[in-house]
Amino acid sequence: MAAPKVAVVGAGLVGLSTALCISEAFPSCPLSVLAEQFSPNTTGDVAAGMLIPHTYPGTPIHVQKQWFKETFAYLFAISNSAEASEAGIHLVSGWQVFKTPPKDEVPFWSDVVLGFRPMSAAELQKFPQHRWGHAFTTLKCDCPPYLLWLEKRLRANGVQLRTSKVADLWELHSEYDVVVNCTGVGAQQLVGDRELLPTRGQVLQAVRWHIDLQPWASPTPSLTFEALRFLKYISTSQISCERMNLSSLGGDAETTKKPWSVCLDERFGLIHRIRSKQCRLYSLGLGNDDNQFEVSMAKSGCEVHRFDPSIKSAHIQEGRRLWYHRLSVDWRDPNPAIAAHRLHSNTKKLGTILNEFGHQKIDVLKADVESAEWKILENLILEDVIEQIGQLVFEVHIHWPGFEVSGNDSTVVRYWYSLLRELELKDFRLFHTYKDLSKPQMFLKKAAFNASSCYTLSWVNTRWQ
Ligand SMILES: *[C@@H]1O[C@H](CO)[C@@H](O)[C@H](O)[C@H]1NC(C)=O
Ligand SMILES: *[C@@H]1O[C@H](CO)[C@@H](O)[C@H](O)[C@H]1NC(C)=O
Ligand SMILES: *[C@@H]1O[C@H](CO)[C@@H](O)[C@H](O)[C@H]1NC(C)=O
Ligand SMILES: *[C@@H]1O[C@H](CO)[C@@H](O)[C@H](O)[C@H]1NC(C)=O
Ligand SMILES: *[C@@H]1O[C@H](CO)[C@@H](O)[C@H](O)[C@H]1NC(C)=O
Repeated sequence: MAAPKVAVVGAGLVGLSTALCISEAFPSCPLSVLAEQFSPNTTGDVAAGMLIPHTYPGTPIHVQKQWFKETFAYLFAISNSAEASEAGIHLVSGWQVFKTPPKDEVPFWSDVVLGFRPMSAAELQKFPQHRWGHAFTTLKCDCPPYLLWLEKRLRANGVQLRTSKVADLWELHSEYDVVVNCTGVGAQQLVGDRELLPTRGQVLQAVRWHIDLQPWASPTPSLTFEALRFLKYISTSQISCERMNLSSLGGDAETTKKPWSVCLDERFGLIHRIRSKQCRLYSLGLGNDDNQFEVSMAKSGCEVHRFDPSIKSAHIQEGRRLWYHRLSVDWRDPNPAIAAHRLHSNTKKLGTILNEFGHQKIDVLKADVESAEWKILENLILEDVIEQIGQLVFEVHIHWPGFEVSGNDSTVVRYWYSLLRELELKDFRLFHTYKDLSKPQMFLKKAAFNASSCYTLSWVNTRWQ
């Protein structure tokens, strides 16, 4: 018997996801997706794509919860994969606010999303006329890229995508053995289903999901032009700083091997915060690194927190102002619902650590995180944690794209450059740059452009008080 021919009607989120499941489960069945509209013209293209379930009458809550759990776990895995940005799936934190307290103050999905909690009184004050709300982190699916990504995977599985207006599902009867109805809101016209209504909410975007990419460096994308623009950028100070030497603080500060430069000029806040013993340094890195910079900063009066996942106990205090924490800073928080993540619960976003420690400000953030710096920097920018930081001293690595940075070489370099331009928009200025000639001279796996694989860059937040 020949494999049955299958048609999926509808090319929205449900249609394309269904088609993908069928094509994976039954690869030998010829499969077509028929729709009048494909992305970017579907209903889904204009949906906010925030994963927050509505409660539907007529289906038991435990079934709705199971559906939501499976959907969340499925998309969460994509958000953690290298394909996250192409697929348009991201974690997003936000509030759901109500004018009157809802019937279920703790909704059925509260333990599926991450970090669900009632909003504090202070948070609620941001929303006049609203008396109730909760805060949580969920997933957001940017529908246009997600639909295109599904279409791409369908084509790769040999599925036909056909634009055609189906007036009546029965007209497909002669051509297909199985017809799957994923007409969604279009069913109002197609089958006259007047009971089918779209649900909608209002989403106010308070968090950004993407940094703004800068235009290409040249009319047609070229690695040479991207690389020259980027390398020039990281080799050029934007503001001068006279005093960068910790020894000038007196005391017995040792000179460090690497140029972890901070700016101690009077016009920036750091030196005043050091004098008034209010200064705080966060240092991210791995144990093998020398810690002279941290020791010197602690000696000059800063409270120093070093985050190092390789130490033996959870917190160690060494000296009056120097702490070690067995935590590593990442660009996402672990999901307690996913077993593999519980193992990594020592991995957190910097914003989460600041909240947990009750710290409002970091005077200096030093990071030597072996290529995780790009995504960490992106996270600090997207969540505006960057505004809580006075100076940044980062070692940046350019011998490969870095963790979860994807795309061809020109795309990668343009992304790095765009990230640094975002810092400039936030009024950070580069005051010291150092090309490490002791490291291999590699740029994206090649010896090229006279670049080093590693640069140490220092910025001052000129808005910092
Ligand atoms: C979407 O609609 C526009 C305007 O009608 C049309 O030009 C475009 O080809 C459509 N795109 C797809 C993929 O159907
Ligand atoms: C197809 O799905 C729509 C939307 O759920 C529904 O209104 C309609 O009755 C279905 N049509 C058939 C023939 O099953
Ligand atoms: C790299 O990818 C971008 C974006 O997808 C594309 O525009 C560009 O042509 C590609 N190739 C090169 C050599 O830049
Ligand atoms: C910093 O200052 C000390 C003493 O003032 C001096 O010995 C040292 O060479 C200086 N280091 C740098 C990198 O300028
Ligand atoms: C390559 O870089 C080194 C160190 O930054 C510099 O001294 C040298 O002039 C550069 N060579 C060329 C050809 O640009």
